Amino acid sequence: MNRRHFLSTAGSALGLAALTPRPGTAVGSPAPRVLEARAATAPLMGDAAPPAAVWGYDGRVPGPVIRTKQSEKLHLRFENRLEQPSTVHWHGIRIDNAMDGVAGLTQAAVPPGESFDYVFTPPDAGTFWYHPHNRTWEQMARGLYGLLIVEESEPPAVDRDLALAFDDWRLGEDGQIDEASLGHMRDWSHAGRLGNWLTVNGVSQPEIPLRQGERLRLRLANCCNARVLSLRLDGHAAWLMALDGQPITPYQPDDGVITLAPAQRADLIVDAVLAPGARPAILEVSGAYALEAAYLSYRPDEVLREAPLPPPAALPDNPLPSSLDLGGALRQELLMEGGAMGRMAGARHKGQQMGMRELVDQGMVWAFNGTAGMTETPLLRVERGRTAVIEMINDTAWPHALHLHGHHFRVVERNGEARSEEPWRDTLLLERDEKAGIAFLADNPGKWMLHCHMLEHQAAGMATWVEVLG
Ligand code: C2O
Ligand code: CU
Repeated sequence: MNRRHFLSTAGSALGLAALTPRPGTAVGSPAPRVLEARAATAPLMGDAAPPAAVWGYDGRVPGPVIRTKQSEKLHLRFENRLEQPSTVHWHGIRIDNAMDGVAGLTQAAVPPGESFDYVFTPPDAGTFWYHPHNRTWEQMARGLYGLLIVEESEPPAVDRDLALAFDDWRLGEDGQIDEASLGHMRDWSHAGRLGNWLTVNGVSQPEIPLRQGERLRLRLANCCNARVLSLRLDGHAAWLMALDGQPITPYQPDDGVITLAPAQRADLIVDAVLAPGARPAILEVSGAYALEAAYLSYRPDEVLREAPLPPPAALPDNPLPSSLDLGGALRQELLMEGGAMGRMAGARHKGQQMGMRELVDQGMVWAFNGTAGMTETPLLRVERGRTAVIEMINDTAWPHALHLHGHHFRVVERNGEARSEEPWRDTLLLERDEKAGIAFLADNPGKWMLHCHMLEHQAAGMATWVEVLG
């Protein structure tokens, strides 16, 4: 395997394997649907290397696309056939706390050989996903994640609805996951575990067939441990319809670039306006070179529609609050510190003040408000029905992707300036030295994690929780 085939932090050409993505499986029957985590193999490098040993839901990478309908009850039985305890977290679903899947906070991790029933009714339609919440940095790096699609009761008119899960893997020359580097402090204290091999739906550079004139809904999800993706669809002006599952007023981003931090999602509507036989790429443009993540292959001889379609109407609103009471909000600061090239001299961990060396011995290099890792008491306690504002300050040399469980929030201040038009999100990318105030209506009682979704940062200290008093 030639080095030139690998994705690097600087960006490089990808291999040429061109395979068709596997379609998702539709589920959602009233009987529990079993979701089994187990060891499996996946042809991550296509023909260029033997299949990689992975961990996958139902033995697949990514796991099955779970499709359900808004406000319909979903019953999933998670069966753990791994050699490690695990859980399933339903990222972005404003769920009952007991179903949130956070080991050590909302449930005990499910031991190998045992199962746990997740029953919940998604209040919002949109693009969500699921992944473990125990040793997430390792279990996701090995392939445990999948998309959860909640359909609107009246979905927009499109010809096809495609879910694309992006992931970067760290593979060795033999095509196997580089296990030796799992848990490396160098990754934990820098950008997190960045992979060298990009896949879309578990395949390197898949070909997505389409016909001229088709209208597609594309659901993009960043399932990387730590890599921020910048995606651009060559030759098309895509309509951005929703972020993190929540509808926005549709628009076409000027440069066509959609930036997705780890865990973020975007829904697009794309009209296939090129000529039969065209083969534009979905490019990943965050590096020095644009990488072809996937191709849209226009059929040479089929035309679905000649005339252009009118711009799409906005997706129907989800039941989120129409306003937030910022004046009466409970305010809490969240100072983010640590990491390589940071100024942090020490932090509290497990109830004790420690210097950097001692922290590193404990696998800790980041802190929120001077504390590394989870604490007995929450960052804030807020009564149900009140608005809370968390003022985040990124005093580190790295970007972070802050995720709040159980709620969507809005950025209401950025670097000291009030903002009124920012979209609802469940995960926020905060650049180095940036400040943002996020506001949410604390309407979902329970214990909710707030952490960096760069999973190595989470594991190395960037994790706390918020309690909404019922
Ligand atoms: Cu996507 Cu706390 O997780
Ligand atoms: Cu981070």
